[in-house]
Amino acid sequence: MIKFLDLQKVNARFQNKFQEKFKSFLDTGHYILGDQVSSFENNFAKYCGAKYCVGVSNGLDALILIFKAYLKLGVLQHNDEVIVPANTFIASIIAIEEVGLKPVLVEPDLKTYNISIIEIEKHITKKTKVILAVHLYGMLADMECINTIAKQKNLLVIEDAAQAHGAINIDGGKAGNLSDVAAFSFYPSKNLGALGDAGAVVSNDALLINMIKKLRNYGGTFKYTYNTIGTNNRLDEIQATFLNIKLELLDDDNEKRRNIAKSYLLGITNKKIKLPYYNLSENHVFYAFVVLVENRQEFIDYLSEKHIETLIHYPIPPHKQEAFAHLKITSLPITETIHNKIVSLPISPVMLKEDVEEVIRSINQY
Ligand SMILES: Cc1ncc(COP(=O)(O)O)c(C=O)c1O
Repeated sequence: MIKFLDLQKVNARFQNKFQEKFKSFLDTGHYILGDQVSSFENNFAKYCGAKYCVGVSNGLDALILIFKAYLKLGVLQHNDEVIVPANTFIASIIAIEEVGLKPVLVEPDLKTYNISIIEIEKHITKKTKVILAVHLYGMLADMECINTIAKQKNLLVIEDAAQAHGAINIDGGKAGNLSDVAAFSFYPSKNLGALGDAGAVVSNDALLINMIKKLRNYGGTFKYTYNTIGTNNRLDEIQATFLNIKLELLDDDNEKRRNIAKSYLLGITNKKIKLPYYNLSENHVFYAFVVLVENRQEFIDYLSEKHIETLIHYPIPPHKQEAFAHLKITSLPITETIHNKIVSLPISPVMLKEDVEEVIRSINQY
C-alpha cells in the first residue's frame, strides 16, 4: 500500500530526540508557556525572517486571534469586508465570520489554484479592509501584486500560511514574512506538523503581537493581571518541544517534497491528467500535489485498486457547505470546477523512490 502520507513514519525519524526531550520536559515540572514555547517562538520567527512569533493553539485560532487583535486595536471594525479565495480550506472563512467580519469569496486562478488578482480588484468596495492571501497547497500566492493593490487601496494583507511553511519568493522572502501578519497551522499532516494541534502567528508588528500574546492568555500579560478579555489559545509546551526538533529538518523535507513533485511532473505523461503549474523555484513546498481529472471517482478507484491512496483537498467548496448557506452564493464556476475534479497524489518526505515510480507508472497506464 502506498499511503497518501505515512505520519507514523514521518515522526519515527525523530523518535530518539522526542524521547530525550520528553524526559527533560517531564523533569522541568513546568508545562505551560515554558522555555520550549519561547524558544520555538524565537526559532520560528527567525526561520521566517520575521521579528516576532506567538505560539497558539492551532491554525484556525491563529487567524481568529489576528482578526480579534485588529478589532481590539481599532484597526478593523465589525462588518468590514475581508477578501478570501473561495477554494480555500474552510477554516480561513470560519475565522472571518467568527469575529463578525464579512468574508467576500473570490474566485481563484485556474492555473495556480491561488486567488486571482483580477478577481480581487473586481471585489474591492469601500468596506474592504483586508486581503486574506492563502498559499494554497504550498505555493505562495502572488504577494507582489496583492501587496501592490493593498498599498494603493490602504488594505491590510494577512497570509494564511497553514500549508506553506518555508516557501520562498524570488526576493528570498519567506511565507510568514510577506504581509502584515501570517497565520500558521502545525496540524500533524502539515509540512511542519506537531503531534497534536498547534499553530502560530508571525509578524513584524510589535503592537499587534503584544495584543495577540495577551489574547491567547485570557487577556493578560502578567499572571492574574488582565487588561482585556481574552481566551486560552496557548501553544502547548510539549508540542513546542516536538516542533523545535522538527523545525531543523523542515528545509530538507520541503526539498524532498519538491523532488517528488518534479518526478511526477516529468514522469506523468497521461493526457487525461492535468498536472499542477510549478515554476521550479522554492516558492512551492508541495503540501499537496494536486491534479485535475475529468472522471475523478473512476481515477481514485483505479488507483485504490493499485493500492495507491489519494485525498481530495477539498471535495465540497465552502460556499456549497450548509454552514455557509447564509452567504447565498449560488455560483463560483472556477472554484466548483476545481472542487469537482481535483485529486491529491501521495507526497511526503518519507515516500520511497520506488513508490513515486509506481504512482507514475500506474497513472500512465490509466
Ligand atoms: C489553509 C488552511 N487554513 C487554516 C487551517 C486551520 O488550521 P488548524 O487545523 O490548525 O486549525 C488549515 C489546516 O488545517 C489550512 O489548511
